[in-house]
Amino acid sequence: MSAVAGEVRAVTTYRLSEMKQRGEKIAMLTSYDYSMAQIVDGAGIDIILVGDSAANVMAGYETTLPITLDMMIYHARSVVRGVKRALVVVDMPFGTYQGNSKIALDSAIRIMKETGADAVKLEGGEEVLESIQRILAAGIPVMGHLGLTPQSIHKFGTYGVRAKEKAEADKLLHDARLLADAGCFGIVLEKIPAALAELVTKKVPVPVIGIGAGKGTDGQVLVLHDMLGITQGFSPRFLRRYADLHTVMNDAISHYITDVKEGDFPNEKEQY
Ligand code: KIV
Repeated sequence: MSAVAGEVRAVTTYRLSEMKQRGEKIAMLTSYDYSMAQIVDGAGIDIILVGDSAANVMAGYETTLPITLDMMIYHARSVVRGVKRALVVVDMPFGTYQGNSKIALDSAIRIMKETGADAVKLEGGEEVLESIQRILAAGIPVMGHLGLTPQSIHKFGTYGVRAKEKAEADKLLHDARLLADAGCFGIVLEKIPAALAELVTKKVPVPVIGIGAGKGTDGQVLVLHDMLGITQGFSPRFLRRYADLHTVMNDAISHYITDVKEGDFPNEKEQY
């Protein structure tokens, strides 16, 4: 488990709830592998999400739909080995929970048993409530995800802002209440108007983490490769880039290539 190592006090769902009550913001980022997870955890992040965005940034797929349970388990296991403090949440991939709550429970149990992660996340409200209830009844912490739910991209037809109209906003608030009442320990709100996200955050007792949902939520999440500037050609308004690692890495690799081609690497001190 990504729990206590030495003096490190692990983040738990209970601590996240305390943070909400104190008004202390929660910082969450994705990770998909051991080395990155070590860096992200070492920097002091509260929650690491092994997102199904791995389908995009690790596997190069256009959408999150193709990633499989086995692939998510591989990524999550690698992340858990690199984490000492953060709460590790794993996305349940498309097709592993929507159809039937028994399949949902089996999928969640596989994630928990085979990865050592702390919780699962799944997309949707009332339509997946039975699956959420069954997973929670097995003692597995669940995080909800409402608003723009990328696994439904073929239904939406666009990655645009969700819940701008009253009917969709009302349904979102209703769903958030259902998830909180069912026992979800937190909810991600993706790409919705800031005022709606703030309202939901006030109305539900559990931590609400936003991405493209303004500053009124209890915390924020970003995709690691986007905020580090590794991904190219993706610049939604909500994305703040904290580094330009694409350029840093490209320069380092170009430098290495030149050194090899010119016989400058290795030098005499770099050999035996
Ligand atoms: O898969 C993912 O990275 C996510 C975040 C965008 C919240 O679900």
